[in-house]
Amino acid sequence: MRTVLAILLVLFATYSVLVYEYGHGDRDERASTAVRVGIRIWQEEICQSCHQLYGLGGYMGPDLTNVVSQRDTMRIRTFIRYGTGRMPAHALSDVEIDQLIAFLAWVDRTGTRTMPPEATHWTGTYLLEKP
Ligand code: HEC
Repeated sequence: MRTVLAILLVLFATYSVLVYEYGHGDRDERASTAVRVGIRIWQEEICQSCHQLYGLGGYMGPDLTNVVSQRDTMRIRTFIRYGTGRMPAHALSDVEIDQLIAFLAWVDRTGTRTMPPEATHWTGTYLLEKP
């Protein structure tokens, strides 16, 4: 009985060490300082009122969950700085825009937008097929 318990204890300890060392994938990646500052800018500028992340948020602009892998960085910078007829311009410094993009890149690595861009109307409405 003692031998069995000892073996179980050793297995448990080995397993715990392995899980602790190797058990985290990219999804648990720690947010860097730039990412954390970027989250704050995202909140202060209230981007969420018009944009969704992971499908949640406002529906005036497109979902930005995977915008970093789908769009050129210069395009993203230009949208944020100058806006468009529908999106307002944001008076942010180059560093702040970098931090905002670092946050969006982090979101990109942690989730997948389920609705393809071509299925989203410019008003933000999803173009679902009629049943
Ligand atoms: C008043 C609503 C509104 C706010 C606030 C807003 N956006 Fe937008 N955004 C839009 C709309 C609408 C579009 C689509 C613009 C167009 O096509 O004219 C857009 C487009 C974008 C795009 C381009 C997406 C693509 O697929 O190319 C990015 C990137 C973006 N916004 C980032 C941001 C960020 C970051 C913030 C906060 C700093 C923000 N937006 C705040 C409405 C908004």
